[in-house]
Amino acid sequence: MTTLRPFCCDDMFKFNHVNLDPLTETYGLSFYLQYLAHWPEYFQVAESPSNTIMGYIMGKAEGVGENWHGHVTALAVAPEYRRLGLANQLMEILEDISEKKCCYFVDLFVRVSNAVAISMYSNLGYCVYRTVLQYYSGTPEEDAYDMRKALSRDVHRRSIVPLKDPVRPEDLD
Ligand SMILES: CC(C)(COP(=O)(O)OP(=O)(O)OC[C@H]1O[C@@H](n2cnc3c(N)ncnc32)[C@H](O)[C@@H]1OP(=O)(O)O)[C@@H](O)C(=O)NCCC(=O)NCCS
Repeated sequence: MTTLRPFCCDDMFKFNHVNLDPLTETYGLSFYLQYLAHWPEYFQVAESPSNTIMGYIMGKAEGVGENWHGHVTALAVAPEYRRLGLANQLMEILEDISEKKCCYFVDLFVRVSNAVAISMYSNLGYCVYRTVLQYYSGTPEEDAYDMRKALSRDVHRRSIVPLKDPVRPEDLD
């Protein structure tokens, strides 16, 4: 049976196989520790009965006023555990926490080429809010979609009205 539980420091010794995917961003240790320290409730892991990490989600809550929102920083499931509904479950946890924190919306950035993830987020009710030009560095650089889903606090669903013009990373609020 799969266990969904909070991520802990030791998990960083065990999640390399999940990150070995070109579409999964890998960060420095201090970045993960910063999330664990500030937003532990937003860092959840799916573990198999043999204690293998199947996938994880890492996020945070930030913003002021009507920009107060939950953010998905990383979501990854190891190839052998895909299409089991794990990502959906991890997203549900993050959305529930964001609802409890009275966020207006949840957002995330995704590579414009990541058709699988875009389709998954669309099925979960996310829509493209704006395009962020050259958000992902590398060769070549790649644009990101900033996708959003309004939560119940955003009664008028103002947070998801799409922007017409693309923005640059330095223009993000
Ligand atoms: C995107 C990713 C997290 C999905 O994880 P997952 O656990 O396989 O997703 P789920 O099983 O919860 O699938 C949810 C839905 O997404 C869609 N989906 C997932 N994988 C898909 C695929 N290979 N092809 C088409 N649709 C797919 C389906 O609609 C699916 O629902 P369904 O199985 O009922 O049809 C996983 O493929 C992954 O880790 N990819 C690499 C990292 C990544 O791209 N992360 C997102 C960065 S923003």
